[in-house]
Amino acid sequence: MARPTTIHTCSTCGQSEPRWMGQCPGCGEWNTMVEEAAAPAAGRAGAATRLRGSGGARAATVTRLKDVDTARAPRLRTGIQEVDRVLGGGLVAGSLVLLGGSPGIGKSTLTGMALGNLAAAGRSVLYVSGEESAQQIRLRHERLLTPHCAALDVPVLAETDLGTVLATIEAESPDVVVIDSVQTLHAAELTGAPGSVGQVREVASRIMQVAKPSGTAVILVGHVTKEGSLAGPRVLEHLVDCVLQFEGERERTYRTLRALKNRFGSTNEAGVFEMRSGGLVEVLDASARFVSEATRKPGSVVLAAMEGSRPLLVEVQALVSPSELVPPRRVVNGIDRNRLALVLAVLGRHAGVGVGTADVFVNVVGGVRVDEPGADLAIALAVASAQRGIALGDAGGKLPVACFGEVGLTGELRTVAHSDRRLDEARKFGLRSPVSPEHTPTLRAALRSVLPAAGGSGRDTASALV
Ligand code: TYD
Ligand code: MG
Repeated sequence: MARPTTIHTCSTCGQSEPRWMGQCPGCGEWNTMVEEAAAPAAGRAGAATRLRGSGGARAATVTRLKDVDTARAPRLRTGIQEVDRVLGGGLVAGSLVLLGGSPGIGKSTLTGMALGNLAAAGRSVLYVSGEESAQQIRLRHERLLTPHCAALDVPVLAETDLGTVLATIEAESPDVVVIDSVQTLHAAELTGAPGSVGQVREVASRIMQVAKPSGTAVILVGHVTKEGSLAGPRVLEHLVDCVLQFEGERERTYRTLRALKNRFGSTNEAGVFEMRSGGLVEVLDASARFVSEATRKPGSVVLAAMEGSRPLLVEVQALVSPSELVPPRRVVNGIDRNRLALVLAVLGRHAGVGVGTADVFVNVVGGVRVDEPGADLAIALAVASAQRGIALGDAGGKLPVACFGEVGLTGELRTVAHSDRRLDEARKFGLRSPVSPEHTPTLRAALRSVLPAAGGSGRDTASALV
């Protein structure tokens, strides 16, 4: 009988079986068997020598770190400022970048624009698509045409067979290649469907083997599931040099690009984009836009957030309305649901603002996501303002109120990172005295300072709130 060319290995205990099994006979776990290409058979002699230490392999020379050549890896600039910043200065030759995002978010548009710019700068590029035909890609790239973007100069390969893709990369040896997407390519040696864990792993590692020696930088596009994790490609995270996540809501125009892992730069950077009819446009001054759009109505507050190392002013809105449901609804958009639960508990227990059985909705405007404790105070102020039906206001009440700070379980406000940058950003837009842990030690004091009682001064509010 012919030797099977693939084996199925348990991702938990490593047990190998010739056939797929629902339950691993080694450890008893379910659904852990992943198909892999079988290693070439080691002869009997090979197996015997393997048992004896090194098996005759020659020793390699080791180098002291101070003798290692530190010539900086040259960077390939994509010409999209925000992408280059998130990558830490551009693509590194020979590196593997995984770009994840939900379908329709703009991954193909972003990579197409980057390749267009690189081609315009004289770099050799290749766009491999397993999803769209060359005609479809051309139609999209026609929409991207801008004076600086040579989007139609990009060579494309519409192909799903991994072997053909690898041979083409070897023959063309481009500076940058985009694989859109890693889930659509198919390695003929494996029987699994494209997108299965075994296939995705095989596709990525074979592409890496071909690209690394020639110094080709690879961008692997990967789709993420509804839960936000990289489906299948999650197994690639250790393999690639850089994991970028493109997020936002398809219906909204704003998109954020973040680095979740970066071997050549910081993971604190984030870039903001807007999807327009001519492709993605970098939003270099997102704060100005969000502040000018802030409503200044009850339930609205401006949060001085951090997007990586950049401060960003975003509007946080809350709505508190009577509920007919038990338990009442707690609906969030752009913040963590557990964070809202915590803030509501502290508001009720330590600041005298109970929402009881009312429904509470909290939304970060523009489809922005804020994943930091510094957003707590904004959630608290927006909910308190919505619950009382009174707009927050500083002295004049003309400008929106800005804030930031973490809410502690005992009702105290805790300092968060980069408060000076947040304050500077707020001042830049005329929001003179943001509410922050530096100025108000407790949540109750913070509420007092900006939530005037109807028709009264801020001071009256103190008693109203107690
Ligand atoms: P796409 O890049 O195809 O998303 P992904 O590759 O992540 O699945 O683009 C998604 C959406 O963007 C698509 O619905 C159309 C829209 N779009 C624009 O609004 N303007 C444009 O210039 C382009 C090219 C696309
Ligand atoms: Mg796409």
